Amino acid sequence: MAKLKILVAPDPLLKQKAHPVTEVTDEIRTILDDMLETMYAAPGIGLAATQVGIDKRLVVMDLANTEEGEEPAPMKFINPEIISLSEEEAVLEEGCLSVPEFYEDVIRPAKCKVKALNENGEEFITEGEGLLAACLQHEIDHLDGELFIDHLSRVKRAMIIKKLIKIKKHQTVKM
Ligand code: NI
Repeated sequence: MAKLKILVAPDPLLKQKAHPVTEVTDEIRTILDDMLETMYAAPGIGLAATQVGIDKRLVVMDLANTEEGEEPAPMKFINPEIISLSEEEAVLEEGCLSVPEFYEDVIRPAKCKVKALNENGEEFITEGEGLLAACLQHEIDHLDGELFIDHLSRVKRAMIIKKLIKIKKHQTVKM
């Protein structure tokens, strides 16, 4: 397994819409494992291939609270697709490995149903609410070139991007 580099906003690659996987191969399975390793190391609870510069519709997640003694519960989604969203909405404070250090309340549909392929290329459906629903929508947004800050006001988003640029500039002069 290999750890991948996580892109940080603003980055044009994060704005791209990823292409569907046409065949579930060993290469795809390896990418999913590398993405999980990268996500756990970060650490984060979800990661989309777009965030590691891979143009494929792949998402990994693990919502287990291992600090509270829960067993890791890795989830892998190939070509995830939202098939239904609730009318009811919910607010959750979100963060993102591509928008480090910023956490903001995001309003999204409270429940969602997602169709995807598993590692064997078989279709499955996941239905969730709460953190699972928010995380699924957040990660699928990534595959469509959207970040959680795109759900905020223009002013708030501009402020966060400005600060991220400042941090990036600072890092480039560090020796
Ligand atoms: Ni994210």
